[in-house]
Amino acid sequence: PKPIVQQKPQNLTLVGSVSDLDKNGYLQTKEVAVVRQVYTYSQKLVAVNPKCTHQGCDVKWVVADKKYVCPCHGSSFDATGEVLNGPATKSLAVYPVKIVGTQVLAEI
Ligand code: FES
Repeated sequence: PKPIVQQKPQNLTLVGSVSDLDKNGYLQTKEVAVVRQVYTYSQKLVAVNPKCTHQGCDVKWVVADKKYVCPCHGSSFDATGEVLNGPATKSLAVYPVKIVGTQVLAEI
């Protein structure tokens, strides 16, 4: 008999709802932060690990400035997790993220 092909289970974590993302401009849990990055002709979701790469405080997305800011020593990061200002020198970790129905799911 043919072996049954098992689908690899994905480690998808619910980050929040699409409506909350649209209302607030971002979603954030302890483990993952998601923003919509808007380009001229398109947009995509970007998920990062909010743990600051300096000493591990939780960064927060600042809607008005379109960047993540760390409350501990002031490092900042763009939507894709790249360092804008130190003392951090390493980017935030990025996770795959997708919308399924009305939910935003990240693979962390
Ligand atoms: Fe984030 Fe120091 S822990 S800047």
